[in-house]
Amino acid sequence: MSGMSRFFIQTYGCQMNEADSEIMARILQRAGYEPTDAPEEASIILLNTCCVRAKPEQKVYSRLGELRPIKERRPEVIIALAGCMAQKEGQALLKRVPYLDLVIGTHQFHRIEEFIHSCQQGGRRICVLGSEDDPSIARHELAAQTKTGANLKAFVPIIRGCDNNCTYCVVPSVRGRQKSRPLHEIKAETEALTARGCKEVTLLGQNVLAYGRDLPVNADFVSLLESLQDVEGLERIRFTTAHPRDVDDRLIEAVAGLPKVCEHLHLPIQAGHDRLLKAMGRGHTTDYYLEMVEKIRAKIPGVSITTDIMVGFPGETEEEFEASLKLYEKIGFDQAFTFVYSPRPGTPATKLPDQVPQKAKVTRLNRLIELINASALQANASQVGRQGEVLVDGVSEKDPGRLAGRLRNNKLVVFPGKEDLIGGLISVTTTAAHMWGFTGEVSQQ
Ligand code: 5AD
Ligand code: SF4
Repeated sequence: MSGMSRFFIQTYGCQMNEADSEIMARILQRAGYEPTDAPEEASIILLNTCCVRAKPEQKVYSRLGELRPIKERRPEVIIALAGCMAQKEGQALLKRVPYLDLVIGTHQFHRIEEFIHSCQQGGRRICVLGSEDDPSIARHELAAQTKTGANLKAFVPIIRGCDNNCTYCVVPSVRGRQKSRPLHEIKAETEALTARGCKEVTLLGQNVLAYGRDLPVNADFVSLLESLQDVEGLERIRFTTAHPRDVDDRLIEAVAGLPKVCEHLHLPIQAGHDRLLKAMGRGHTTDYYLEMVEKIRAKIPGVSITTDIMVGFPGETEEEFEASLKLYEKIGFDQAFTFVYSPRPGTPATKLPDQVPQKAKVTRLNRLIELINASALQANASQVGRQGEVLVDGVSEKDPGRLAGRLRNNKLVVFPGKEDLIGGLISVTTTAAHMWGFTGEVSQQ
């Protein structure tokens, strides 16, 4: 292959996008292209995009601006845009960005090879959005995984799209109605991954707890977790994201009882006041969330609970924000992703009165981050001196003299150790707590 047959992929947004990028990378590799992390030497430049807030969109537009000189120097380069922004903007992107060659929606990314060839051969500019009912996506997905070589950890999409109607969220309109993958395909993919050395899978979906509701056969998320227990070589199962409304006793018992399922739940709360939760269309109350957390902690020793929180939803008053902070403090989250509400065109919340001024949003965000940092540190401090199982990921990024890995509850531990421990499961004792996790040492049994 000449030096020009390389592809560059940059991914924005959530883990589902990372998983989709991985599939596209595998498809391009099978077609004979080599990956590169330098767009200057690529013949295919692909941005896999996100539109959940205005910020990731702005990042993509400025990235496209940076790529323009490359296209001017080498007009044969294909610049492609996939993912949620592609689905949302469609043809308008080709108009707005005259040097963009290809726009691929969220239901068509598995056909990337074919579209790139059309661009290359026909010299045409293409926009394909397709339909969420295209069944070919699943076949390609599974096929993409049969390449040799796997990582220690892998994402496995189990359900795409979303049937919820959160009033702030653009995702259902760009990813379509929920579509669960058949259970046997998920299992086959997990087996193919573990046969090649993968030890941990993260099951992905906009709401994994809705898994199976759209399938003709009787399958639900807990039955999927149960069925993955006997996958040989699989040590750990994680999953994200879970809608709090769909948490029930059966799920809690499964996380508590199934040996391979890790003790971590990511349960986006979004707001901590009943009026806000109602206006967001979340389908539960603050009392419900509190009771759920108590039940989870009582039944699953060592569990960590993380969340997503938004500030500045339309109409959010100072009092409602204060009440929310109080609730978050009471819950004591192990960690949280925090966001400023960003009005998304076409969603119901953009039409609500009393949009919160930007200045107040930023002040609230900073107060929230402060609280979450304190809460993470406090949660970690209460766990110093404990032994726990760590899957060793590799050399620590921040401290190359040490190793890094994650406890079952997903917390990061950095500790001294020989590189031959990488890829294995070992017992580590935590010695000091930080906001980001722990320092520790290999346990002396
Ligand atoms: N503005 C800000 N944050 C949002 N999220 C989703 N939509 C918006 C929006 N319009 C956040 C939610 C969600 C996470 C993935 O992104 O917290 O859980
Ligand atoms: Fe972004 Fe949502 Fe699309 Fe993920 S599903 S890439 S978070 S818009």
